[in-house]
Amino acid sequence: MDKLLEIKNLNLFFGEYQALYGINFSLNKGEMRALAGESGCGKTLTAMSIMRLLPKSAIIKSGEIFFDGENLLNLKEKQMRELRGNKIALIPQDPMTSLNPLYTIGNQLIESIRVHTGVSYHQARRKAKEVLDLVKIPDIDNKLSYYPHELSGGMKQRIIISMALATKAELIIADEPTTALDVTIQKQIMDLLDEIKKDFGTTILLISHDLALVSNYADNISIMYAGQLVEEATSEDFFKNPVHPYSNALLRSLPSRNPALKLKTIEGAPPSIQEEINGCKFHPRCEFCDLSICTASKPVLKEKSNGHYSACLIK
Ligand SMILES: Nc1ncnc2c1ncn2[C@@H]1O[C@H](COP(=O)(O)OP(=O)(O)O)[C@@H](O)[C@H]1O
Ligand SMILES: [Mg+2]
Repeated sequence: MDKLLEIKNLNLFFGEYQALYGINFSLNKGEMRALAGESGCGKTLTAMSIMRLLPKSAIIKSGEIFFDGENLLNLKEKQMRELRGNKIALIPQDPMTSLNPLYTIGNQLIESIRVHTGVSYHQARRKAKEVLDLVKIPDIDNKLSYYPHELSGGMKQRIIISMALATKAELIIADEPTTALDVTIQKQIMDLLDEIKKDFGTTILLISHDLALVSNYADNISIMYAGQLVEEATSEDFFKNPVHPYSNALLRSLPSRNPALKLKTIEGAPPSIQEEINGCKFHPRCEFCDLSICTASKPVLKEKSNGHYSACLIK
């Protein structure tokens, strides 16, 4: 299968502290992969490494990020700017980081289409209406003259998604795209991303702390903990047979899986990047921990069954 994105051995630091450890994963064309894990595990840093929009203090010490065969980390900022908003689109948690409050939806969308495609105002306006229709914005002619604050969170997120469609983005990185929205709207936005994947073959990296949400949509799943990938599998395999104790703990904390029981949240919190933990970084929170084994060496992803990888020294 054709790989669109491939991250190889990505190591990211803030000063002496390491935030991402040897991240490896790839996305085939037309795949939706979920990158999941609790808050603070390094999901956004992974996304921002791909976009090359990291905080200034972040240092990528080693690694490669291939997009369509080209290492993004070697591109000039100008080339990267062309890719962003053109071939790679970011859908952030808060749509206001992408929308300008001072301009109408129509102005922003039409301007963005003109910048990326060079078409005339009228052609861009037609295209804008077409993509707003694709993302199911009602009453489009009127909506074009709305300012962002006049739209709901869900509608704003649809506008951002329509921008990705207008430029025919090949890769959409959606970083907690529905976290700020209420539950019924969350499903509508996820359904929309799913439709885009199916209708246009768009590749999607879906970042989420919410396994219940991603379970219905992702083809494949990567689970992240404390800057490392700890499990990787197809969604089907993962939800049938989660291997890593961290994944199991995450799954047990889902209300939908455990409706009758009191939710069992995972004790404690993920470590900060400054915290030094020998061996497996999950061991202090792990119910299966055997200190003599789990602090002695660092676990790496190993294939446990066909295409199903886990990084645990015990299981
Ligand atoms: N600019 C920064 N300086 C120092 N540490 C940071 C910075 N940005 C993120 N981190 C740390 O890196 C870790 C991963 O952050 P992040 O990728 O935002 O996690 P997630 O998106 O999974 O919630 C966190 O522990 C966070 O505190
Ligand atoms: Mg994040």
